[in-house]
Amino acid sequence: MKTRLPLIAGNWKMNGDSARARELCNALVSRSPHWPTLNGQKVDVAVFPPFVSLPAAHEALKDSDIVLGAQNMHEAVSGAYTGEVSAAMLLTAGCQMVILGHSERRQLFGETDLGVNRKAQAALAAGLKPIICIGETLAERESGQTNAVIEGQLRGSLAGLTKEQLQKVTIAYEPVWAIGTGRVATVEQAGEVHRFMRGWIESRFDTDTANGIRILYGGSVKADNARSLLANPDIDGALVGGASLNADEFDAIIRASV
Ligand code: 13P
Repeated sequence: MKTRLPLIAGNWKMNGDSARARELCNALVSRSPHWPTLNGQKVDVAVFPPFVSLPAAHEALKDSDIVLGAQNMHEAVSGAYTGEVSAAMLLTAGCQMVILGHSERRQLFGETDLGVNRKAQAALAAGLKPIICIGETLAERESGQTNAVIEGQLRGSLAGLTKEQLQKVTIAYEPVWAIGTGRVATVEQAGEVHRFMRGWIESRFDTDTANGIRILYGGSVKADNARSLLANPDIDGALVGGASLNADEFDAIIRASV
């Protein structure tokens, strides 16, 4: 039995233009009346378009419950950081959330736990809710290091955050080997890591904080595997990549969440 309201989040990555963002948002808004509820509350849904499509998406979502977020940000308030975007800029573009430390950013752009932690502090200070991504590579899993890697990333990324701040944080467990590969973690594999993460949060913070925090699974979530993953009481939602670019597929994942 689920106690935490699921969050289904669509990470569009570097796909589509503003016209496509508008179209996809409109398609989701028209499907939203049919989305399920838990204890009378509709499941949370959020989309994360590329930066330049945020205004179009914001306009299309303005009369809906669908939350808008960004895929990254810089930790500074403003300044000489060519090519970067601040939390305050994201807020004025209509964002309420931001994805931090996605494995593609860690692997392709050199992001570290320390950098993710700075961004998390800045996001929270500005009033943005971060989704902090954590996950091991295939080599790390196969050499039995999964829990050590997860623990290290949690410790580094959440360093210095208070219990109150953690209430505004979502964790996404995204095993690197399952992202964009079609190779989805089994419910048992995902559930085991989610329980490990919650146990770590309980030991580092407290039971209420651990019970309250949402831990999403991400990595090849599709309409046909969402129901079994999301039925696990330790999996509080999904961070969806490829399948979130198709309104029917994303809608089916949302409907499978409760
Ligand atoms: P896919 O769903 O395309 O595997 O991507 C997962 C992901 O990276 C979401 O952030």
